[in-house]
Amino acid sequence: MALLEVRDLVVRYGEIEALRGVSFDVEAGQVVTLLGSNGAGKSTTLRAISGLAAPAAGDIVFEGRSIAGRHPEEIVRLGISHVPEGRRVFPGLTVKENIMLGGSNRRAGKAELAREADAMFDLFPDIRAFAHALGWTLSGGQLQMVAVARGLMAKPKLLLLDEPSLGLAPVIVQAVFRIITEIRRHTTVLLVEQNARMGLSVADQGYVLETGRLALGGKPDELWSNEAIAAAYLGGHAKAAV
Ligand SMILES: Nc1ncnc2c1ncn2[C@@H]1O[C@H](COP(=O)(O)OP(=O)(O)OP(=O)(O)O)[C@@H](O)[C@H]1O
Ligand SMILES: [Mg+2]
Repeated sequence: MALLEVRDLVVRYGEIEALRGVSFDVEAGQVVTLLGSNGAGKSTTLRAISGLAAPAAGDIVFEGRSIAGRHPEEIVRLGISHVPEGRRVFPGLTVKENIMLGGSNRRAGKAELAREADAMFDLFPDIRAFAHALGWTLSGGQLQMVAVARGLMAKPKLLLLDEPSLGLAPVIVQAVFRIITEIRRHTTVLLVEQNARMGLSVADQGYVLETGRLALGGKPDELWSNEAIAAAYLGGHAKAAV
């Protein structure tokens, strides 16, 4: 049994059918990457899994039980943490306080959360110096690290990451992806990326979404090795760049 099973998922925003019957599995211990162009339905998929968008049809099964349509807080408690698009911090709070907020779903005391937040700076040394600074003083890449650290504070079994590299300079993107390879040692990751090369470089399995449907899926080398597919979905000369 896969950790997460998405079955024939349909999500509508009014008249717009954002997902039109999407099915895929996420196996425990893997990094699964969802690729696709703007508006393909990547974020909607993550939002449906974390309870932020209600499925109109289909099912989402986590550890053998249906979670489709459940309340986001309940889904967090079951072990799914969502780091959404954009890098939201609470500007009145320090970086460390922002990170600690991610653990508010757990029955941990404040001292324990503070200790764990301190430990996060081992994984994210670039933001250690800002621990006691207010969140709004950070750069885009640093904000992204705060957002991922906050997601990890929930101690999720499954971490949903929505475009963690968006708008970041290449060197920062590499730092973010290094962190993903660290995270995967103890957490299953469902990663949304537009950058196919980066997204597949850390993946065990990749899927390409196209206007609300899965166009293809496979192991990264299978996806890249089909030249027609690589050209159509993964960007013209992408294969040569791998
Ligand atoms: N809140 C909303 N209300 C109405 N339509 C929406 C809403 N959110 C998304 N959509 C529409 O649903 C479709 C899928 O959007 P979604 O955000 O899931 O795409 P995406 O693959 O994450 O795109 P991007 O790469 O631009 O983030 C698009 O047509 C989008 O316009
Ligand atoms: Mg999106």
